Amino acid sequence: MNAAKMQLAEIRFKVNGAEHSVSVPPMKRLLDVLREELELTGVKEGCGEGECGSCSVLLDGVLVNSCLVPALQVNGCEVLTVEGLATNGALAHIQKTFLELGGTQCGICTPGMMLAAESLLRKIPHPNLDEIREGLAGNLCRCTGYMRIIDAVRHASQAPLLAEEQAGLDAVRR
Ligand code: FES
Ligand code: FES
Repeated sequence: MNAAKMQLAEIRFKVNGAEHSVSVPPMKRLLDVLREELELTGVKEGCGEGECGSCSVLLDGVLVNSCLVPALQVNGCEVLTVEGLATNGALAHIQKTFLELGGTQCGICTPGMMLAAESLLRKIPHPNLDEIREGLAGNLCRCTGYMRIIDAVRHASQAPLLAEEQAGLDAVRR
């Protein structure tokens, strides 16, 4: 057995509801396992250093930066990527509001933003604007100026707005 083969580890985990088994170096990043082994290219690499959130996925329901997670750590776990938000090809509500309200432009941050939003809305179904900002704080966007993303998350949550919050969003839309 050559040295390279000895360094591979068998990783079994569930991704978007489907069981997978991959044979990879144990420290291979989850980001690369998803993109290269499973062809789930919705997960994006921005900084590669845990700073931007572009590579966000849910790992056993917890929002993580997949660029910082070694493959070995996901053995036996369940991962949700942006591809798993849709059901039978139908976009999830959060995906629709991002599209309808201009929450996505170049798209690099979008999958991570959607998963951060999903994580937030699971914990706080009707967040206020501060809670939305806090929920998305680990995800950077260079394009949208954030308010359209926040607006999309608020619409997905169908939370009522305070008058001053509505005024702020109206100003952004003008
Ligand atoms: Fe993972 Fe930026 S690519 S946090
Ligand atoms: Fe381009 Fe957010 S849409 S970085």
